[in-house]
Amino acid sequence: MGSIEQQVECREKAEYANVNWDELGFALTKTDYMYVMNFSGDEDDFSQGILTRFGNIELCPSSGILNYGQGLFEGLKAYRKEDEGILLFRPVENALRMRMGADRMCMPSPTIEQFIDAVKKTVLANKRWVPPHGRGALYIRPLLMGTSPNLGVKPASEYTFLIYASPVGNYHKGDMNLFVEDKVYRAAPGGTGGVKSVTNYSPIYKALTQAKAKGFSDVLFLDALTGKNIEEGSAFNIFILKGNVISTPTAYGTILPGITRKSVIEIALTLGYQVEERTVPIEEVFDAEEVFCSGTAMVIKSVASITYQGKRIEYKVGTETVAQKLYATLTRIQTGLIEDKMGWTIEI
Ligand code: COI
Repeated sequence: MGSIEQQVECREKAEYANVNWDELGFALTKTDYMYVMNFSGDEDDFSQGILTRFGNIELCPSSGILNYGQGLFEGLKAYRKEDEGILLFRPVENALRMRMGADRMCMPSPTIEQFIDAVKKTVLANKRWVPPHGRGALYIRPLLMGTSPNLGVKPASEYTFLIYASPVGNYHKGDMNLFVEDKVYRAAPGGTGGVKSVTNYSPIYKALTQAKAKGFSDVLFLDALTGKNIEEGSAFNIFILKGNVISTPTAYGTILPGITRKSVIEIALTLGYQVEERTVPIEEVFDAEEVFCSGTAMVIKSVASITYQGKRIEYKVGTETVAQKLYATLTRIQTGLIEDKMGWTIEI
């Protein structure tokens, strides 16, 4: 037994899970609890949700999610403040986006209140997994899925809303070198590119795997209609900078309305940049001064290079970039280092 101070320090340390926080990338670390709430066709609301130990779930082999991909996910983060408090970043936006996606996918969805309550309970139950201040975040992954048996092509009659969480660090370590894919398209007009359907992701694995095999970090997709305009990456929105103007493709229909994307736009405007949401032809990427990505997982990351049809363009990265300025403001709000004048964070 050491001094009282050492014992107190030990108790404080014991509040954290045994994780090497500085080694975290973006991979699952299993945490203690998950939250589960069911919807059966007989009731017109979700059941009372419960916290249960994190673990495998049972699904009918014929469930809607397994057979026809009737499912959505969300992603948001909880951050540790310097004083050990915990902040959620814009959870209402995720709740709204899930509701929008559920409508597109013919699914019932939790109310905003049910969603926020479930997120808070999940984070508090897994509090010891929220990384220390400045050393990562707890990534919260809400899922909504059709669970009833479904052999025919039609919406399920039963659904599960589930939230699990994992501490995470950087999504991409090192420089971000993007490959512009001009044969595979992520989303088509009228499709589900603008909602967070689980079906938007694995169809791009082949393009991503091939790009990674050639040494690229990630893939940027073009619009399916003309193949001439940039849209988004495998898991991020994209911005280009020229002079005082920051441009990003309009998040309409084929592009996911990212919450970090929205936050970047709002921060950039307060910092005096002009922001344009519009069609962005691939040619404009060639003479951009900076390119950067945004996403909940990615946060904000400068792009070091873009390669399109064999042509490689390099961009400014590092501490003197506009991307870094936006990143600093965003992450200071997220971690409680500066006053949240936007009203984006919720302390739990
Ligand atoms: C997020 O940023 O939350 C995402 O959805 C990316 C995820 C697919 C890794």
